[in-house]
Formats: sequence, structure tokens, C-alpha cells
Amino acid sequence: MAAPVSQRVDGDRLWRRLRDLARFGATRGGGVCRLALSPEEIGARAALVAWAREIGLQPSVDAAANLFLTLEGREPQLPPLLIGSHIDTQPSGGKYDGAYGVLAALEAAQAITEHPLRPRRSIAVVAWMNEEGSRFAPGMMGSAVFTGKRRLADILAIRDRSGCTVEAALASVLAAERELMRRPLGFPVAGFLEAHIEQGVGLQEAGCTVGVVTGIQGKRTFRVEILGEESHAGTTPRSRRRDALSSAVAVVDALQRAMWDAADTVRFTVGMFDVSPNAPSVVPGRVVFSIDLRHLDADVVAMLGDRIPQLCERARGRCTAAIRERLNEVPLQFPHAMRACIAAAATRLGVSHLQLPSPAGHDARYLHCVCPTGMIFIPCKDGISHNEAEDISEGDATAGARVLAEAAFELANAR
Ligand code: GLV
Ligand code: MN
Ligand code: MN
Repeated sequence: MAAPVSQRVDGDRLWRRLRDLARFGATRGGGVCRLALSPEEIGARAALVAWAREIGLQPSVDAAANLFLTLEGREPQLPPLLIGSHIDTQPSGGKYDGAYGVLAALEAAQAITEHPLRPRRSIAVVAWMNEEGSRFAPGMMGSAVFTGKRRLADILAIRDRSGCTVEAALASVLAAERELMRRPLGFPVAGFLEAHIEQGVGLQEAGCTVGVVTGIQGKRTFRVEILGEESHAGTTPRSRRRDALSSAVAVVDALQRAMWDAADTVRFTVGMFDVSPNAPSVVPGRVVFSIDLRHLDADVVAMLGDRIPQLCERARGRCTAAIRERLNEVPLQFPHAMRACIAAAATRLGVSHLQLPSPAGHDARYLHCVCPTGMIFIPCKDGISHNEAEDISEGDATAGARVLAEAAFELANAR
């Protein structure tokens, strides 16, 4: 009998590729700034394609710039199993959020190519377009379009801060990859496995190597626009000011107080705050800020999210407030069969594991709507993520890729 595929997972190779990929968009602070559909991401995608070709995977791309690297199975007409994550990052992101999942998938696929038995189904390593949503909001765009959650036509006009549209940025990526095979958007898939760093301290505190992810917490996001009136800082008395910044600060303070919970389970973030005209001697006329609200309990996300418009109205003072909801995603649970498959693989390999939910969002959320989906976590040092200092250990990275390879091989061979 052939040795299990996990034995062919090469931890050194995976670690080397993690280092190599982190060069695309490397920051002085040791992190990565590789925004979705940027020149840095185009470079990183080319590196993925080159690695894929070396090991005999077929690269292809769809109209949303989701990138697939396919290992052909014995029955290639069957829907493939997808494994992967994303390679875009936050502006001051780390080396592993997303990139680990794509490169662990590439390593798992390579290990499977080295096994004498080809899997029954094809296995496609995938890098989803724009998971982070920091250049173009909201995130998880590629997986949303792939799964029919959003229409491609509806995301094309979204602009980044410089005014560049998703349409223009997509065109530059697809032009750079014009020699790749084109796939239809949203083809049938047999399942999806996403490996990812935990971005929390659950595994570290439990002393466990791998997390079997039970589900993803709920999330609502909003954009708030506060409109006042630009006026002269030296001449406008307080009584006549309509200062959008003062109003926005009062609104954010009211929101923060309302979202405070003693148990510290509500996640409430104002991460983007744009002041116009942002000049020292002009009373600000306009502020736009983001709200990111998350909780594991659907009722809590619904109840707190529903209060946001009224809280903004009450605290806006003399300015106007326009509140637009961008995203409303309920908490979800991954199927037991997928969790059992991952847990069984970890048990076979003697890798300690723990079932735990994901407080962070992932493309797996949307894939879950169209196919059996599961996630594998590895520990992330001190839970630090969305930060240049994000760190993992080589041993954990290898163990996670081994579990992924075993689970993927089993699912791709299932009847
Ligand atoms: C993903 O990066 C998230 O914000 O959860
Ligand atoms: Mn991620
Ligand atoms: Mn992220």
C-alpha cells in the first residue's frame, strides 16, 4: 500500500514559498501590502502560476480573476474539489493571512501529484479575488461572485480611494494573465477546504496544533456619511458651525458606548475614517466612516445592527447622517461531515486538534452556500493578525498542510 499523501508534504518547500510570496508587496516593517488586483498581487499570482506549472497543475482564471491551479483527477468530468484561500492583504498586513491557505493548498496538491494514485476528482487550488475588502469594499468579492451571492455587473463600478474601479483593476489582471485558460464563473464544485491562520489565541492557549473550524460568526457592515458645512476656522463661531468631524466623533462615541458588553464578545470597529477637506484651517464639511460589527449569536448581530441608524440619528447634532448597510451575514455552522473528515485526518496523523469557531470572515462563508465546506486553522502567534507582525511556526504550517492534504485526498476520492 502506498504511503499516505501527508508524508509527501514538504514543510521546507512550503516555508520557502511562504517567504518567496511575501516578497510581493513586502513592507519595511516586515509585513505585506498586497492589495487586491494591484501590481503586487499580479506579481504574486504569476509566481503561483509558475509553481503550479512546475508541478503539472493547469492554471486558469475566471471573469472575476479568481485563480485556479488544477490537478486533473481520474474522472475530470466530475465537479472538482476546491482548496485554497486568498493572497490579497490588508494595507499593513502580515505574511500569512490568506497566503498560508493558498500555499498549504499548493503543497497539498503537490504532495497528491507525488502519490501513485491520482484522485478520482480534480483538485483545484484557488486564490479568491479580493477577500480583504480594504481596497475595494466589501471583501470576499471573488467568492461572492463565484457562488452567485453577488453579480459581477454589480461590483464593477466600485472604486478604490484613488478612483480606480474594480472593472479597470480586473482588466489589468486579466490582461496580465491573458494566456491562461478562461473558466466560466461559478462552475459546479464538489466541496471546498480552506486552511487559514487562526487570527486568535484559542489554539495557542489550548496548546493545540490544528483547529477544526465549527463555523463563522455573523457580521454586519455599514458606511456612515456625516455632512456639515465647510467654513473658515478663524471666523466661524461655534454657534454657526456645522462641523462634520465633531458630529462624527459624537456618533462614534455613542455607538461605542451602545455596543459595549461586559462579556467582551461584541466586536465593534470603526476602522476607516475619512475627513474632508482634511485641511487645518477648514471646519470639516464631510466625514465618511465604516462600521464593522460581529458576534457569534445571530440575535445579537441583528439586534445591535438594527440599533445603528437610530444611534447615529440621535448623536449627529447639526449635521446630517446617511447610513448605508453594506453587508449582513448571519453566523454559520460548517457541516458535521466536513468537520469529521478534518478531525479524522488530524487524528490519523497524531496532530492535536480542537473544534473552534472562526471570529474572522473567510471565503469559506460563501462556498458554504454552494458545496460542503470546511476549514482548518493553525495557530497564529499571540493572535496577532491584520498586522505586519503576524507570525506562525514552520512546524504548525507543515502540520496544517498535512491535515489538509489527507482531508483533500479523501474528499477527492469519495464516491
Ligand atoms: C477578514 O479579513 C475579516 O475581516 O474577517
Ligand atoms: Mn484571510
Ligand atoms: Mn484578513
